[in-house]
Amino acid sequence: MLVAIDGPAGAGKSTVARAVADALGFTYLDTGAMYRCVGLRAQDPGFDPHGLDIAFDGDRVLLDGDDVSEAIRTPQAAQAASRVATDPAVRAALVARQRELIADGAWVAEGRDIGTVVAPDAEVKVWLTADPAERARRRGIPVDDLVERDERDAGREHAPMVAADDAVEVDTTGLTIDEVVAAIVALVPQRNEVQE
Ligand code: DC
Repeated sequence: MLVAIDGPAGAGKSTVARAVADALGFTYLDTGAMYRCVGLRAQDPGFDPHGLDIAFDGDRVLLDGDDVSEAIRTPQAAQAASRVATDPAVRAALVARQRELIADGAWVAEGRDIGTVVAPDAEVKVWLTADPAERARRRGIPVDDLVERDERDAGREHAPMVAADDAVEVDTTGLTIDEVVAAIVALVPQRNEVQE
């Protein structure tokens, strides 16, 4: 069982996906954290995206055994992630790893291409959006920086950020986190079976 949540930066994906996973007892996968890890190492000599060991330990993100949970959250790391995410070799390596992770069990995975590329057969697909001004405010960054990243993510040749045809769009502008979480949980068939 997979709930795929895709959408642009600042739409609330991480907060919402984590809360949806908690509500359903599913495991949360933050694929953006994986691109951010690659972004941290992309300038290293001999860089090979297949050679990186990216792991999750609860809320912590480990890169080759080092805890990079804070280092990957800077605005610079976000832009570096968006840049390396245009590289097809990087995408192939991370998509393979993501498919391995979600192969067993029940997951809420969030990113840009979960419903389109990583798991086109996901049982539930959500496209989470919000107004650019509200998204920039939430991230504490200038609207121009956010729009630059959106345009790079949506305009790239390989696996551009786009809503899957069968995704349910949820616009979080002006909604509380609880309202968004409830709307997504209501889409999950397993949850309805449990309630019947
Ligand atoms: O969700 P985030 O802000 O942590 O993602 C950082 C960057 O990683 C984002 O600008 C584009 C890239 N990314 C991607 O291309 N595909 C994903 N599934 C997740 C993130």
